[in-house]
Amino acid sequence: MKQLTAMVTITVGGTAAFAGLCIWNGNENFYRDYVMPFTKRLDPETSHRLAVFAMKHCLIRKQLKPDPESLATKLWGLNFSNPVGLAAGFDKQAEAIQGLHRTGFGFVEIGSVTPEPQEGNTSPRVFRLNEDAGLINRYGFNSEGHEAVYGRVKLESEKQERAVIGVNLGKNKLTPVAAEDYVAGVKKFGEIADYLVINVSSPNTPGLRGLQQKAELENLITLVVEARNNLSVSKLPPLLLKIAPDLSQEEKKDIADVVLKDKCRVDGIIVCNTTISRPSDLKSECKSEAGGLSGQPLKDISTRCIRDFYRLTGGRIPIIGVGGVASGQDAYEKILAGASLVQLYTSFAFQGPPVVRRIKRELDEILRSNGYQSIAEAVGKSSTK
Ligand SMILES: Cc1cc2nc3c(=O)[nH]c(=O)nc-3n(C[C@H](O)[C@H](O)[C@H](O)COP(=O)(O)O)c2cc1C
Repeated sequence: MKQLTAMVTITVGGTAAFAGLCIWNGNENFYRDYVMPFTKRLDPETSHRLAVFAMKHCLIRKQLKPDPESLATKLWGLNFSNPVGLAAGFDKQAEAIQGLHRTGFGFVEIGSVTPEPQEGNTSPRVFRLNEDAGLINRYGFNSEGHEAVYGRVKLESEKQERAVIGVNLGKNKLTPVAAEDYVAGVKKFGEIADYLVINVSSPNTPGLRGLQQKAELENLITLVVEARNNLSVSKLPPLLLKIAPDLSQEEKKDIADVVLKDKCRVDGIIVCNTTISRPSDLKSECKSEAGGLSGQPLKDISTRCIRDFYRLTGGRIPIIGVGGVASGQDAYEKILAGASLVQLYTSFAFQGPPVVRRIKRELDEILRSNGYQSIAEAVGKSSTK
């Protein structure tokens, strides 16, 4: 009996130690075959919370190898060791910046954060489209609010070795004058954020996307740019606008015209947020849930949108390309279309931390095999200005 107990202890202990080591090391096959199939069985929001917990407690080894030189990018005076960032919405409350940086992201965007704490929509509010490698979410800006998030970002921003940190600003559901919330965000985070994002494109806050209409946008950005310019800080943070993919050509042109004007000139555009459209070839059961769709079904919609904005702005405003990036090739296509940096969320939810290292490895190979020494050289090469 004693022998049997010893055998069981050794087997269970050994397996747990092996699994722990594979998770810690970010072993690609182990994540694909064991970790991710396990997380798919969980409710998606629970799985999201677990992933944030793991990142918060740095349950993954720091990437030891430096990023290849070809991936280094300088933008807005900031040095990015690689162009692959984490998109907003994963670390909404800024709890896990360090762990995410260790995973290998070149930058981490936290939020969206609203001035006052708010719960967001009722659960269930995230859905996995397994057959389509997509997600639908209608979180509705669940945020602990400026004060709580500020404390965490400040702590991170003071660290010697840290990620480039973007702060994505949202508005409270019940605020009648949207500009007030964005201006408050600029004042609160302007000193500690590496860049700020005006998010007017989440589909889950009533009326938010209406702020992309020409007159409203011009009024909003003018006020936010003014607030940013009036900050008494040593370096003014770059201001980016995050837009939706569901825009007509006319609406895109209007947005480009607005952001090119002096008084509402933004430093960058993030293209794009989730889509409210539902491509006809979606297969998953929950495809008709309300909310924003992300991941593979958004990939080409987003790349086309990047190309449009690169052309409409004549390449004068740097673009962060986001939507369905799951491989080096996906990232490369967005760069050729006009993106100077890329971000991802959904492929991280489906494949876990190893996806970051794989994308960087593949992107480095693709760039070199196409004769590019750097990301900057490839930006916009499939687009006509
Ligand atoms: C669950 C979830 C929550 C999100 N929350 C936010 C958010 O709070 N603010 C925001 O600007 N974008 C948010 N997004 C959009 C992502 O930042 C990104 O623009 C979009 O998912 C497309 O990228 P992907 O296909 O790589 O996921 C969210 C996306 C998902 C899947």
